[in-house]
Amino acid sequence: MGIVRFQSTGVSLAACFVVMAGMANMVLAANAPSRSGKEIVSTICIACHGEGKDGAPRIGNTADWAPRAKYGLNQLTRSAMDGVRKMPAHGGEATLSDLEVERAIAYMVSGGRTLDKEKTSGKVTHGTGEQIVAAACGNCHREGSNGAPRIGDANAWLPRMAKGVNELVSSAIHGHNKMPSRGGFSNLSDADIRAAVSFMASKASAPAK
Ligand code: HEC
Ligand code: HEC
Repeated sequence: MGIVRFQSTGVSLAACFVVMAGMANMVLAANAPSRSGKEIVSTICIACHGEGKDGAPRIGNTADWAPRAKYGLNQLTRSAMDGVRKMPAHGGEATLSDLEVERAIAYMVSGGRTLDKEKTSGKVTHGTGEQIVAAACGNCHREGSNGAPRIGDANAWLPRMAKGVNELVSSAIHGHNKMPSRGGFSNLSDADIRAAVSFMASKASAPAK
């Protein structure tokens, strides 16, 4: 997953950037320090998973979790990010990173006995960078609405790309001025955002002719 197609041949800043993005794939997307499973559960997930609101499996309750946990952490992570019935996408907090969601789930399933992961599995994706951009980011980035850097406009992208891939991925996850968190698509994972940013950045290297 996360395949990025190169449109230009020569080595350009944008092409280097895309390579960096691929290499940094397993690095934490958010530059902000990530929160522990315990912190996230006790501030966010507890609102429903504490008492079992609307059938939410209760924290540390083996009987509640057993039928779900058998599908494995990747599947649980996918449904927590996408949302399922009364469970909102990302638990209603779109700025949570993939790693934070995985930690929170592990904490709830194990009742706090599982140690926090150091790295995200990066397994939850909804398509290639190109597909994510077509479905989600293009709405604003095709035309450059509200000052969004336009796809293919190197002048708009190069100064932003100078900040480095992690910084751009982080601002797309958290939101940046008029850009909403995850572009308003709260089910997208960090891996999706990274692939989409890489795709748009790769277009900034297209020869201006
Ligand atoms: C607004 C209430 C609410 C909040 C907040 C919430 N959940 Fe849930 N969650 C639910 C409900 C309800 C279900 C049961 C959904 C169903 O299967 O019908 C659920 C189910 C789940 C499941 C099981 C999904 C599956 O495939 O069976 C996971 C994992 C999960 N939540 C993770 C989280 C995490 C992590 C957080 C905090 C970041 C969180 N939830 C915050 C309501 C919530
Ligand atoms: C609702 C409109 C909208 C959507 C949808 C949207 N963006 Fe944006 N985006 C913006 C705007 C406006 C800006 C300029 C914000 C600023 O920096 O002032 C921006 C800026 C950015 C930046 C530059 C941030 C920086 O730090 O300079 C990145 C990266 C980005 N968007 C990625 C994405 C990705 C990835 C998606 C799809 C998942 C997406 N955007 C969807 C409106 C949008």
